[in-house]
Amino acid sequence: MDLFENVNCVKICAPMVRYSKLPFRLLVKDYGCDLMYSPMIMADSFYNSQKARDNEFITSEDDRPLIVQFAANQSIHFSESARMVEKYCNGVDLNCGCPQKWAIKEGIGACLINNPEFVADVVKQTRMKVSNPNFSVSVKIRIHEDISQTVDLCRQIQAAGASYITVHGRTRTQKGEPVNLEAISTISKSLSIPVVANGDIKTLDDVNRVHEITGCKGVMSARGMLENPAMYAGYTSTPLQCVSDWVRISLERGTPFTTFHHHLIYMLDKLLPRFSRAVIFGYSEEIIPSKPLRRVSGFGCLKVLLVAGSGMYLGAQIAIRMDDRRRLQVEAAERRLQQQETRGLKEPSRLESKQKEMEKYSRIAQERGGEAPMKWQVG
Ligand SMILES: Cc1cc2nc3c(=O)[nH]c(=O)nc-3n(C[C@H](O)[C@H](O)[C@H](O)COP(=O)(O)O)c2cc1C
Repeated sequence: MDLFENVNCVKICAPMVRYSKLPFRLLVKDYGCDLMYSPMIMADSFYNSQKARDNEFITSEDDRPLIVQFAANQSIHFSESARMVEKYCNGVDLNCGCPQKWAIKEGIGACLINNPEFVADVVKQTRMKVSNPNFSVSVKIRIHEDISQTVDLCRQIQAAGASYITVHGRTRTQKGEPVNLEAISTISKSLSIPVVANGDIKTLDDVNRVHEITGCKGVMSARGMLENPAMYAGYTSTPLQCVSDWVRISLERGTPFTTFHHHLIYMLDKLLPRFSRAVIFGYSEEIIPSKPLRRVSGFGCLKVLLVAGSGMYLGAQIAIRMDDRRRLQVEAAERRLQQQETRGLKEPSRLESKQKEMEKYSRIAQERGGEAPMKWQVG
């Protein structure tokens, strides 16, 4: 790829599952990024399924230069996928760095650094299949405990026709340990193709330092880009203009809400005061293993507890009120019953009182020498 000849130190946005999608690639491109990667795509699904192709790979004409990264355990899947995307990007990359257990089980990712013949075969097959000689075929690796093994691997990859190699300066089992820049430097000096250094590059100062120490032709950043997409433009924290650009690009290009929101969380983590962060992060729907979102989950838990607590309190209040009402109704009914019984004992029934009235009027009538009027007769 011409880029490595024309630029002193190529600044690259790393492949990131979920994150390095079209809108984010366009954002970092506006802020000094020279080359962008797609997230890792499973080559077997891409090769076999139209649905996977539609879901996993979305690009546009301004989304260049672009490298599409695949994970593969069969050369045919990778080389055929490369042929399919050839017209829509500038190159393909084989993931030999993913250390996750599921990936190792599938025979993809970091375990491939121990299978140099396979990696070299993937590169060779792909080179033969793509028609454009400038189309880049690259590999992203982690290092071995014994660096000479990594150098051997890289030489085989180079001999197979790779355009460049990216080295994440950690072994398969390392996580937060410091990046081994010396190892990257050794690899870089041992090859004639460009080497890209990756690991813990978070500022433009880091870019210059790593470039100087390793002599690499390029640098790649992942977490640094998430936290500050304007990093390569020299900003030490995300400028508000960049946040505003993210909102605009997301709306223009269409971004799922969770992705949009996760990016905001990363970008704003160091910008906002604690309370504002809690308010914004509290609206996260998903828990992902990242520093800011672990905080979200704590806040989320508090929120759930508060909501549940208020709900239980309200429920209890309603139950008590209903119980009171029922008790009052029962008491009123009992009182009415008692009154009726009392009335029943003391007052005569209608029949009795009418009979008494009839007797009274009959008596009066007899005294006057007549009969009781018909209307008083009870029938
Ligand atoms: C959220 C996230 C997703 C990643 N996805 C990929 C991936 O799809 N392919 C890959 O080769 N590496 C992936 N990585 C590893 C990075 O590309 C990079 O090698 C690693 O994070 C070290 O670089 P950093 O210190 O700049 O973060 C991912 C890293 C992160 C943080």
